[in-house]
Amino acid sequence: MPDSTFFIKTFGCQMNIRDSEIMAQKLSENGYIETSVLNDAELIIINTCSVRGKAEQKVFSMLGSLRKQKLTNPALKICVAGCVAQQEGQKIIDRMGHVDLVIGTQHIYKLPELLAQLSTGRTAINLSDTYEIPQYIPKIQGSQTTDFEPLEPARPFQFSRFVTIMQGCNNFCTYCVVPYTRGREVSRNAEDIVQEVDILVQSGVKEITLLGQNVNSYGSTNTVANGSLPYSFARLLRDVSRVEGLKRLRFTTSHPKDISDELIDCFSTIPNLCPQIHLPVQSGSDRILKRMNRKYSIASYLEKIDRLQSARPGIAITTDMIIGFPGETNRDFQDTMDLLERVRYHGSFSFKYSDRPGTAAASYAEKLSETEKGRRLQIFQNRQDQISLERNREYIGQTLSVLVETNMDGRLMGRSATNHIVHAAGVTGTIQPGAFVDAEIFHAGQHSLLGRLSE
Ligand code: SAH
Ligand code: SF4
Ligand code: F3S
Repeated sequence: MPDSTFFIKTFGCQMNIRDSEIMAQKLSENGYIETSVLNDAELIIINTCSVRGKAEQKVFSMLGSLRKQKLTNPALKICVAGCVAQQEGQKIIDRMGHVDLVIGTQHIYKLPELLAQLSTGRTAINLSDTYEIPQYIPKIQGSQTTDFEPLEPARPFQFSRFVTIMQGCNNFCTYCVVPYTRGREVSRNAEDIVQEVDILVQSGVKEITLLGQNVNSYGSTNTVANGSLPYSFARLLRDVSRVEGLKRLRFTTSHPKDISDELIDCFSTIPNLCPQIHLPVQSGSDRILKRMNRKYSIASYLEKIDRLQSARPGIAITTDMIIGFPGETNRDFQDTMDLLERVRYHGSFSFKYSDRPGTAAASYAEKLSETEKGRRLQIFQNRQDQISLERNREYIGQTLSVLVETNMDGRLMGRSATNHIVHAAGVTGTIQPGAFVDAEIFHAGQHSLLGRLSE
């Protein structure tokens, strides 16, 4: 139904944010118009996440609230995309009669086509069967590797962009749905990636974050979408870092087991690779790591941390932590707290363990109560908050280069190379987003730094 307005609500990780961008682009190309007001939309897309029970509940409560809207406006089309769509498929339509379309993670490129079918009066459509190889690896114009069209260059005022380098995951951590909702790991052609980065940088982007569920295993296990194998992640980093004009390069997410010597080396040899790494550890207990199928020990993890810190002194390290995995004893939890003291993460995302359908851990015995998980999570988060503050105070007196994101009413906000949010007040309006400024840090909070701009 071209000329209709659409609204996309995105839950979950960068993968979904990227997929929402792709859906928005596909719809715009087909004459749809994006609106930021839900009530104005004739098509509502909910791009869903199922990584934890809470994320999934949010989706169903939003869908529930749309039921009324559909009653008052029967022409409204409601589409469920993303990981819950992939996981639940037809069940969503069976449970929620007002949903018109369920589209799995592997099929988003078919969105306009499916909407066209709906507009001819077809009843609810479910397209969410899993393919072994994701079919929607974006293609760059001129490349012969896949059938897909180029993504649009950066919109104005976007100076930092994510570039997908791989899809899916082969790791099957016992708590995680991602291998089921995103399928097997497949890496994108290296030339396409470099070309996309080049296009983005030429259009004004300063900072690129290479994106995948497990970027370190890039090029190791599956087709590089018709490119050559093996092709290491370190090699890709070197290739991308050489794109002329690229000021900052980052990547996320890394699996500790796949951090190679070659990759650690990149932190000493690639100047525009930012001094920052997100390295999810999930638990400080070897026993729990084994039950999680993480394939590394705390000793080997710490050894890698030490080497990363020697390769790039001052590197900011962040992590993810699951608290209250089935069978986690007080001793195991203490091991997690000890690890926190040892590494002193700059920040972390920590979550109560949550059962996910179809995962191995869902059937494990020795589940902890919600209360006990909550109690431990609070202890962990309180200590992490203190450490984040102490870590942030280490920057006081230092001058950091800041990539400006906003500058309004004399208040500037941007990010340092270590990925800290930096604020500065009393700034002139001539500094534009996308500029680099030097800020001398004079105050540190838990979540951000305050600086004075140097002349
Ligand atoms: N691919 C990334 C992260 C994927 S999901 C990685 O391997 O690091 C993001 C985070 O959600 C995970 O790191 C984990 O900490 C958390 N998570 C995943 N499944 C979970 C579950 N069942 N319960 C609680 N947290 C979970
Ligand atoms: Fe999930 Fe583990 Fe894959 Fe990360 S590495 S996406 S936690 S299975
Ligand atoms: Fe969620 Fe799917 Fe991402 S489950 S975290 S949106 S890969």
